[in-house]
Amino acid sequence: MENKENEEIFRKVFEEKRRGVEELLKDFLPAEEGYTRQIAQAVNYSVMAGGKRIRPILLLEVNRLFNGEAMQAANCLAAAIEMIHTYSLVHDDLPAMDNDELRRGIPTTHKKFGEAMGILAGDALLNLSMETAMKAFRTPCDTTLCANAISLLYDKAGIDGMIGGQVSDVLSEKKKELVDKDRLDYIYERKTGALIEAAMMIGCWLAPQSRKKDLLAMQQIASKVGLAFQIRDDILDVEGIEEILGKPIGSDYRNAKSTYVTLMGIERAREDVERLTEEALALLAPYAGENTFLAWLIRRLAGRDR
Ligand code: IPE
Ligand code: IPE
Ligand code: MG
Ligand code: MG
Ligand code: MG
Repeated sequence: MENKENEEIFRKVFEEKRRGVEELLKDFLPAEEGYTRQIAQAVNYSVMAGGKRIRPILLLEVNRLFNGEAMQAANCLAAAIEMIHTYSLVHDDLPAMDNDELRRGIPTTHKKFGEAMGILAGDALLNLSMETAMKAFRTPCDTTLCANAISLLYDKAGIDGMIGGQVSDVLSEKKKELVDKDRLDYIYERKTGALIEAAMMIGCWLAPQSRKKDLLAMQQIASKVGLAFQIRDDILDVEGIEEILGKPIGSDYRNAKSTYVTLMGIERAREDVERLTEEALALLAPYAGENTFLAWLIRRLAGRDR
């Protein structure tokens, strides 16, 4: 009974936080006017389409964990990371990449606005993320902390981070043989893990009270959460329900991708999501016990259906 009540409370808290992030994002989005109206519309369409807002929520929660309450600078970085994530999805869906037509329950950006606008909306969002992150310098946050946080964000989004993972993902598809497990780990740690690591590490880094060992712990936790998150995504690509998931199922199969499911089988994939989640929770325990929103969220991600 108590667990059920907690579940209800945490669900509500999650929904509030998700809405809070959406409000935050609105403040940074471009006005739809003049000759640039179409690109502003495409940007706003992709950002406001919905989504779980996991990365900004993780960033703000970790910042709160170390700081008591989230800082103004954390808001800028939270909005920026969601913009980078959204651009990565807009480009991921393009015909040259995964060629998908549904995202967050509505037509993908290129489907709605055309391919050129899809490419440009992604570019614009990456640019806007930087403009947004730089606004952290206008908050009372220490300049060095802001600079370190911003630098980390773009490292994790770059060639040795998310982009590198996406490149390796694209280069590994449509091959006669499955890619090996080491390469798959490399891809997942980057295409998905890197931004989740950035979220938790930035939240920690921005808090003046946090120490180097805390930053390392957040990285280790996020790395496990990120890997579990992508394996769960692979499982949902096979057995999810499109109307709930908000994106097409079977995309990996159509693109002849090696995934955790094709490589290890669905049962092993499920077990790995569980194991990684338990490991992440054990590392989190000294910071946030079992009965906290953050622990609930990490557990919830492992069993999500969207
Ligand atoms: C989808 O990310 C892409 C992956 C890294 C698996 P999310 O599952 O966080 O997508 P949204 O933001 O909720 O739409
Ligand atoms: C995408 O992985 C990860 C990034 C966009 C960086 P997927 O291609 O599996 O994501 P979905 O399933 O389209 O959301
Ligand atoms: Mg992809
Ligand atoms: Mg995709
Ligand atoms: Mg996927």
